[in-house]
Amino acid sequence: MTLSMQIRRPDDWHLHLRDGDMLRAVLPATAAVMGRAMVMPNLRPPVVDTATAAAYRSRILAALPDGSDFQPFMACYLTDRTDPDDLAHGFESGVLKAVKLYPAGATTNSDSGVTNLDALSGVLERMADIGMPLLVHGEVTDPEVDLFDREARFLDTVLEPLLARHRKLRVVVEHATTSEAVDFVRAHADRVGCTLTPQHLLANRNHMLVGGIRPHFYCLPILKRARHQQALIQAATSGEANFFLGTDSAPHAKHLKETSCGCAGCYTAPAALELCAEAFERAGELQNLEAFASVNGPTFYGVPVNEDTVTLVREPWQVPAFAEVSGPAKGVVPFYAGETLQWRVANML
Ligand code: DOR
Ligand code: ZN
Repeated sequence: MTLSMQIRRPDDWHLHLRDGDMLRAVLPATAAVMGRAMVMPNLRPPVVDTATAAAYRSRILAALPDGSDFQPFMACYLTDRTDPDDLAHGFESGVLKAVKLYPAGATTNSDSGVTNLDALSGVLERMADIGMPLLVHGEVTDPEVDLFDREARFLDTVLEPLLARHRKLRVVVEHATTSEAVDFVRAHADRVGCTLTPQHLLANRNHMLVGGIRPHFYCLPILKRARHQQALIQAATSGEANFFLGTDSAPHAKHLKETSCGCAGCYTAPAALELCAEAFERAGELQNLEAFASVNGPTFYGVPVNEDTVTLVREPWQVPAFAEVSGPAKGVVPFYAGETLQWRVANML
């Protein structure tokens, strides 16, 4: 008899959809399974205000497969020039759900990121007043700080003081990668949430670097050592309300990953929920997958959980080796391409 499991339809609280040909190629994979997703604003040029977010949202809706009821939630890029009135207008009119902080230079297309957070107190106070969350890419970019220490350093030197200055501000630590981040979120559980990615639950830096360098495991924040992976697995599978799924699915053309200076990002969308199920099953905590993927995120954001469900069946299948993209990008290699996963989503469009 095939084992199966039904859970509420999940949401993806951290997703890169890109634009144009890439958007059209990658959106169906997410829309087939997820009810909603928080769409990241790091396009070129970035989504920096309500008007650019509304226009991007329309392009996403236009690229959806017929009959899909997937809903994109828009995050707007915080820059040195962000206007608090525009944010408030975007939030109150329902176009914007959150604001994303990328320290300048932290990752792909983050060159418009914030150079001086202190100068943005007015914007952050306004966000705290209206209940608009700040999503943080939590890494310092100081070249003196080792790449593997950048998240922990950010929490101590940037986020802790920021939370002390803005006592009502709600924050999401995005794509946490360390035990320090897990401890930090627990210590501020009344107003700090945390997204966790499937790649950080399934892999540590050995998977990326032992026996050869695997570019499709390279993302930012970078995979850390095994004890950090264990802390993330424990947090995700615990059922604790502050931890929820954000895939950070970040497609890059195959030739831009498999090269001498490859881009950061794992394309997890084609198997996002199944990758999580794999991690939860290995931890013996499949019963908490629904809390992580479908309940904790909506609760943090104050939106209703999805009413429909998805069914997972325990039926081994292989993650596709390649996803075609029209135009010059040609194609993307999914995370775990060619690997066998134990759980498969059934009953989708
Ligand atoms: O690995 C990453 N890729 N991390 C990010 O923060 C951005 C993302 C991208 O947009 O490619
Ligand atoms: Zn991201």
